[in-house]
Amino acid sequence: MAARVLVTGASGLLGAHLVAMLSRHYDVVGVDRHPWWGDEPQELLLGDLEAPEFLRKTIAAVSPQMLIHCAALANVDACEQDPARAHASHVLLTKHLVRSVPASCLVVYLSTDGVFQGEAPFMTEEHAPYPRTVYGRSKLQGEREVALATSNHLIVRTNFYGWSSGRKKTAGEWLHRALETKQPVTLFTDFFFTPIYVVDFVERLARLLEHPYRGVIHLAGRDRLSKHAFGLLMAETGGFSAEAVRSGSLDEMTLAAPRPKDMSLSSARFVQLTGMDIPDSRSGLARFLADRHRPLSARFAASATHSPGSV
Ligand SMILES: NC(=O)c1ccc[n+]([C@@H]2O[C@H](COP(=O)([O-])OP(=O)(O)OC[C@H]3O[C@@H](n4cnc5c(N)ncnc54)[C@H](OP(=O)(O)O)[C@@H]3O)[C@@H](O)[C@H]2O)c1
Repeated sequence: MAARVLVTGASGLLGAHLVAMLSRHYDVVGVDRHPWWGDEPQELLLGDLEAPEFLRKTIAAVSPQMLIHCAALANVDACEQDPARAHASHVLLTKHLVRSVPASCLVVYLSTDGVFQGEAPFMTEEHAPYPRTVYGRSKLQGEREVALATSNHLIVRTNFYGWSSGRKKTAGEWLHRALETKQPVTLFTDFFFTPIYVVDFVERLARLLEHPYRGVIHLAGRDRLSKHAFGLLMAETGGFSAEAVRSGSLDEMTLAAPRPKDMSLSSARFVQLTGMDIPDSRSGLARFLADRHRPLSARFAASATHSPGSV
C-alpha cells in the first residue's frame, strides 16, 4: 500500500509541484489556505493550519507516514516587517505540527539558504548557521523544533524558482515578465545564490525520500551566480534582449531586510549520497522556459517517476 504523505503549503510554488509528482507513487493529501490549481485533481484540505482545531482535524484525518512541511511566510521583507507573524508561521506552526504527527512519521522540513551569514561561498551542512534576517532566524528556529521533536527528519535547505499559480509573482516569474516585456530591471552583481528550477528540485527530493539518510541536507543549484548573471543567462537562454538587464549593487539599496551577500549552498552531500547529478544553471533555465505553458502534471520526466521504496 502506498505511504500516506501530507504536504503543507500544497498550493504554493513548491508544494504544488511536490503534490503533482509524489501523488504518482504515494497517497498524497495536500493542505493549504488556497485552493488547488494543478491540472489533475488532488485531495486538498482547505484551511489555516495556525488554527489549532483545523491542525488537529487535519492530522487526525490523514495520520501521515510522511509530513512534508512547505507552508511558510516565504517573503523575506514581510517577515522583517512582522517578526511575530514570522515566528508564528515558522516556529509555532512547525512545533505544533511536528508534535502532533504519529511518532514514526518522517518529517521533511523545507528550509533556506538564508540561515547563513552570507559571507562565504558554497556553505555545507557542516557550517554553523548565523542568520541575519527575521526570515532566516525564524526558519532556523523551525529547524530546531523539528530536530527536537524527532530524529526521523530531513531538513532540506534550498533556493528554487519556477512557475506558480500566479496568485503571487515569484522572483523567477517577475524576471521573465520583465525580459518578455523589455522592462528595465536592475539586478545585483554582488549578491550570489545557487538557484535550482523547482521541477529539478522536486525530482531530486523524491530520490532523497527513498534514501535512509536523516538530518540536514542542502539541495540547490550547481552553479553560484550573481542575480545579474542569472538575469543575463535567462535572457540568453530564452532568446530575449539583455539590454534591459541593468547592473546594480546591494550596497545602493534600502531593503526592509538586510540581505546576506552570498547565499550559495554546496549540494555535494546530496550528490554523494544519491549519485544524482544537479543540472547546470543553463539546463535548469532551459527547462523552466520550456515548461511555461505545460500543465503542472506534464513537467516531470518519465524517468524521474519510478517507484519509491518504503518511507
Ligand atoms: N521560494 C524559495 O526560493 C525558497 C527558498 C528557500 C526555502 N523555501 C521554503 O520552501 C517552502 C515553500 O516555499 P514556496 O516558495 O513554495 O512558498 P509559497 O509559494 O508562499 O507557498 C506556501 C503556501 O503555504 C500557504 N500557507 C502558509 N501558511 C499557512 C497556514 N498556516 N495554513 C495553510 N496554508 C499556509 C501559503 O499561503 P499564503 O500565501 O496565504 O501564506 C502558500 O500557499 C517554504 O517553507 C519556504 O520557506 C523557499
